[in-house]
This record gives sequence, C-alpha cells and structure tokens, in this order.
Amino acid sequence: MTVVEHTRAWSFAPGTAPRVHVLHENPEWFPPFESAFRAADVPFQEVLLTDGSLDLDAEPAPGVYWSRLSASAHTREHRFTKEYTRAVVAWLEGWGRRVVGGSHVVELEVSKVAQHALLRRHGFDVPRTLAVFGRQELGVRARELAAPFITKHNQGGKGLGVRRFDTHEEFDAYVASAEFEEPADGITLLQEYLRSAQPFITRAEFVGGRFVYAVRVDTSAGSFELCPADACEVPTSGQTLEACVVDGPQGLFTLREEITADTPLVKRYEELLRGAGIEIAGIEFLETADGRTVTYDINTNTNYNPAVEAVAPRSGPGEIARYLGDLLRAETHPR
Ligand SMILES: Nc1ncnc2c1ncn2[C@@H]1O[C@H](COP(=O)(O)OP(=O)(O)OP(=O)(O)O)[C@@H](O)[C@H]1O
Ligand SMILES: [Mg+2]
Repeated sequence: MTVVEHTRAWSFAPGTAPRVHVLHENPEWFPPFESAFRAADVPFQEVLLTDGSLDLDAEPAPGVYWSRLSASAHTREHRFTKEYTRAVVAWLEGWGRRVVGGSHVVELEVSKVAQHALLRRHGFDVPRTLAVFGRQELGVRARELAAPFITKHNQGGKGLGVRRFDTHEEFDAYVASAEFEEPADGITLLQEYLRSAQPFITRAEFVGGRFVYAVRVDTSAGSFELCPADACEVPTSGQTLEACVVDGPQGLFTLREEITADTPLVKRYEELLRGAGIEIAGIEFLETADGRTVTYDINTNTNYNPAVEAVAPRSGPGEIARYLGDLLRAETHPR
C-alpha cells in the first residue's frame, strides 16, 4: 500500500499507481479517514486545496477522486478553496475521472438555497426561507416571517450566522450594527424558527447513497449543537457563536437506534440522493412540536462523532473507505 504525505494539486503526477485522492483543506479532520483507509488497505493520497496549480493539458493521476470540500473552509483562512475545488473538479471531470462529490455536489455543499430547492423538489417539508442578497432588504423581508425567526448563511457549515431573533426591531439593530456577520457569498437566509417537540435534531448519514446510521444531537440548554466535530453553540436571542469546541460534552451526540434503513423517511432520503447523484451525505431533520418532520440541511462533508462511532453497528469512515476502495478496484479492473 502506498501512502503519500500531504500534497498539493501540482503533484498530480501521471505514472503513479492508482489510488483514492482526497481533496480537502483541513488535515485536522483527516485522521479517522486515514485510519479507515489503512484498515481497509486502500491506497490513498491527500491533496490539500489551499494553494497549488494545474496543467490543464496534463492527464490527472489515475484513480478515484473524493472531494471533501467544506462550506466553512473560508473560516479556516481558506477563502478560495471553494474556487480551487471548482477548478480541480472541472478539470478532473473533463478528463473523465471518477469523482465522488463532483461539481454538482460542490455546488450543493456551498449553498443552502440549493439544498432547500432540492429537498422541496423531492417533496420534503422544508422551513419557510427567504434568501436576501446584501444587507438592504433584510429588515423588510424579515417582516414576512413571524418572530422568533432565525438567520443563517447560505454558505454555512458549523452554524455560521445562525442567530435567533425574538423581535424584528432587535434584528434591525443587529443588521445596522458592526456586529452583523457578512456571509461569505453575500447571501443571508431568513428562516422560520422551528420549535422542536424534544430538544434534539437528527442527522442521518449516508455512504454510497445508503443509510449508515442516524445521530441524535442534543439541543437542550437553549443552544443548537452542531457539526459533530465542531460542536458550536448558538445561545439565545441575537447572540453569536461563543464557543466552538472539538467535541461536545458527553452524551451530546448519541446513536438514534430507532431510525433504521427501513424507516420511510430514510428511504425517501436515499431516493433523493440517488436522483441527485449524491454519494456521501449527512441529512438533518427536526421533529416539531406541532408534528412536522422538517428537513433543513444536507451536508456533503461529515466529521463522524467518536462517541457515536464507538457504539454504531457500522463506521462512517469505515464505510467510506470500503466504498471508495470498491470504486478504485472497479476503475483499475473494469469487468
Ligand atoms: N429553522 C430552524 N429552526 C430552529 N432551529 C434551527 C433551524 N435551522 C437550524 N436550526 C438549528 O441550528 C443548527 C445549525 O443549522 P444548520 O444545520 O442549518 O447550519 P449549518 O451551518 O449547516 O450547521 P452544521 O454544519 O453544523 O450542519 C441546526 O442543527 C439546528 O439545531
Ligand atoms: Mg446542520
């Protein structure tokens, strides 16, 4: 097995043995995947899309490519990783390389508008949402929602820009203030505030378009606990994210065992993923006090929670290594 240390796009050398090339920008998130690739004996290579260059007329190195672009890359001083990923993926697809998380997935990852549109098209109950370009219309459009309502960034991830407002006046003051958080792409979402029946949300994980497990994320204490690796806190009205820790307190993330591959909602998610050509995803939903099941987020980049991984019947990174390993074998030994 060949394992190559972190490289950058320019080192996509032809003539190397086929492997799984992982495109990403945050090495801190990689160890669970590295372990899984090693355990499954899948040759892999990390490609950090933080800088680099491409020869557009050169054939990409052989193998399978997996983009792990994260919508929050810009918060790690990787503002242009989104653009680098778009460029690299376009080049790879042009050469006919097998890309998991290809151009259509990249566009979905960085746009909650696109996620909402896809969910709506597939008949899911989605939160009432307005997308506002720039700051000017925020106050006016917010009046179309009853308070409380929330804001979030179109290019989100780890709860970026998620704030709750209990009055429109409070929101106006926030928009006019220096505290206003400028979204990476200028698009702020205004969204109905969903009251959950119980203080948790659920995130269903899929690999190869198939259900792996569902995670219950505790949102008690008035906070929304978010990304499994970056448990970020959204306190009450008008507050910003105060804390962002690598792992939440014990028990924040637990396996939701009653959600299985046979759950009708899970089957519907699998249909959506199949229809949209999304192979790896974590889909979040919330069950409201008034009996709705509302889906509000499609993540195509998951950091699997260690506490859940410890008890889950199947491992997220393990399934990914297996899936990509199978694709690699199919590429190198086509039947
Ligand atoms: N409309 C809503 N009403 C009430 N709570 C919400 C709503 N939308 C989101 N939340 C809460 O805020 C959290 C973050 O929202 P969302 O998932 O849309 O943002 P994100 O930036 O994609 O975060 P992450 O990367 O952690 O998934 C959700 O997990 C949920 O707890
Ligand atoms: Mg989310």
